[in-house]
Amino acid sequence: MDKNQELTKRREEAKLGGGKLRIEKQHQQGKLTASERITLLLDEDSFQEIGAFVEHRAATFGLENQRIPGDGVITGFGTIHGRLVYVFSQDFTVLGGSLSETHAAKICRIMDLAMKNGAPFIGLNDSGGARIQEGVVSLAGYADIFFRNTRASGVIPQISVIMGPSAGGAVYSPALTDFIFMVEETSYMFVTGPNVVKTVTHEEVTSEDLGGAKTHAEKSGVNHFTAANDVECLKNVRDLITYFPQNAYELAPTTSVFKFSKSKLTKIEKILPENVSVPYDVRKLIDCIVDDTSFREVQKDFAKNIVVGFSRLEGRTIGVVANQPSAMAGVLDIDASRKGARFVRFCDSFNIPLLVFEDVPGFLPGTDQEWRGIITHGAKLLYAFSEATVPRITVITRKAYGGAYCVMNSKSIGADLVFAWPSAEIAVMGAKGAAEIIFKREIAEAADSQAKLLEKEAEYGDLFANPYRAAERGIVDEVIFPAETRNKLLIGFKMLENKAETLPKKKHGNIPL
Ligand code: HXC
Repeated sequence: MDKNQELTKRREEAKLGGGKLRIEKQHQQGKLTASERITLLLDEDSFQEIGAFVEHRAATFGLENQRIPGDGVITGFGTIHGRLVYVFSQDFTVLGGSLSETHAAKICRIMDLAMKNGAPFIGLNDSGGARIQEGVVSLAGYADIFFRNTRASGVIPQISVIMGPSAGGAVYSPALTDFIFMVEETSYMFVTGPNVVKTVTHEEVTSEDLGGAKTHAEKSGVNHFTAANDVECLKNVRDLITYFPQNAYELAPTTSVFKFSKSKLTKIEKILPENVSVPYDVRKLIDCIVDDTSFREVQKDFAKNIVVGFSRLEGRTIGVVANQPSAMAGVLDIDASRKGARFVRFCDSFNIPLLVFEDVPGFLPGTDQEWRGIITHGAKLLYAFSEATVPRITVITRKAYGGAYCVMNSKSIGADLVFAWPSAEIAVMGAKGAAEIIFKREIAEAADSQAKLLEKEAEYGDLFANPYRAAERGIVDEVIFPAETRNKLLIGFKMLENKAETLPKKKHGNIPL
């Protein structure tokens, strides 16, 4: 065999990974192989592999006879819509995609390149966890990755795609990245699997129920985006990344092709119900304001009382945070505060302006919330907004009550512009609750208590159930018609385009974790 033939042969061997039988098994399970996934994720022919011939150095428990080029992970770089990204894709056909010392070193190498070159890092995870035969060096390999994930946080966007098992300590790399995608039925994540759970807590639970895509989308909030299969999932990753800049020192790209249906300017006037107690879906409102079909909701099945997601205004990326009146009246609770805070911090890290739609009756009362720390968790959202230096605009559509008013990007915590619709009510609380407290004695002593309550409720309502007291004080900059909103936002964000604000010099803040 001449030297060229040898290279060709070696390349072919490396491509086969764990062999045809294991590839077939992977397909039978509805999963693509590591290299098929990379092909779908990246632009055609753009992938450049690094370390295809890397092999492990272990010689314990028979590993010396199982040296497969690549060592269970494909690493390299390529482009998505023409923009550079760094990628790893674990190959479950090679020792279950388990992470060895050299497998980890390959991942670390592309993470280092991603950091040096300021481009996003995407990990396609499909692994049985630490390579059991290797012991501690494999654990150290994980820790090397966690360290880099943390150091890269807020510098380059990091995305984890879970396309098979992700168990034990292995879950902490995805957890440290910005967004997690999961595939229905073929992916799962947990710190301890069903067997350990059964031994320790005597609970009987399947992998899917314990840590499948649905569970993490609805119950834990760990999963940000769910897809039906590998193909759909990778398409969604390609789409999401178009909303992000390459790194924290750049702006997100602007798309010159966008549409806005004029009919939405009429539709928006009819979204708010006459009765302030009647809910509406804030996503319809968002849709009437942003570029057509541009809204990408994040964590849509978790803490539905707050809606967060990326969108575009005349082709420019914005991050949207909105109270959702159709879920628990849009009240802020622990989960909503955590969800909102993390999203705000991502946007602020990556220079994505923030647009807030506010219709919030307050924080959720109750022992459950208090005992689980709504004080600390609610403070996360307050902290995240207060710390954000990106352009920030709030639109108060209806209720802006109590502490939740302060938290939802109020003027006092740094909103650059605050608009209110004529339907806005900005007060310490709703008129009925307020009347019951401040006129308690008068109401109790009145011949007709109910009539007195209604009278006092109306009195409080006349004063505060409108945006004008706030506008008089400059807390609201402008009262606008719903149909004017898009235009006001376009002008407002344009005006704020060169906003430069720096935080006081410090090592880092101490967000209430
Ligand atoms: C070495 C592994 C492996 C591992 C799987 N394999 N996991 N080899 N180390 N961690 C190998 C299997 O031996 C098998 O080899 C092949 O991969 C496919 O595995 P199967 O079991 O046949 O596949 P499947 O039935 O689909 O089950 C997948 C699985 C199971 C549920 C992931 O393999 C499993 O439970 N693996 C062990 C998981 C685990 O406990 N990992 C350690 C977690 S602790 P052959 O040659 O037969 O194809 C951890 C700590 C990280 O990760 C800490 C960081 C701080």
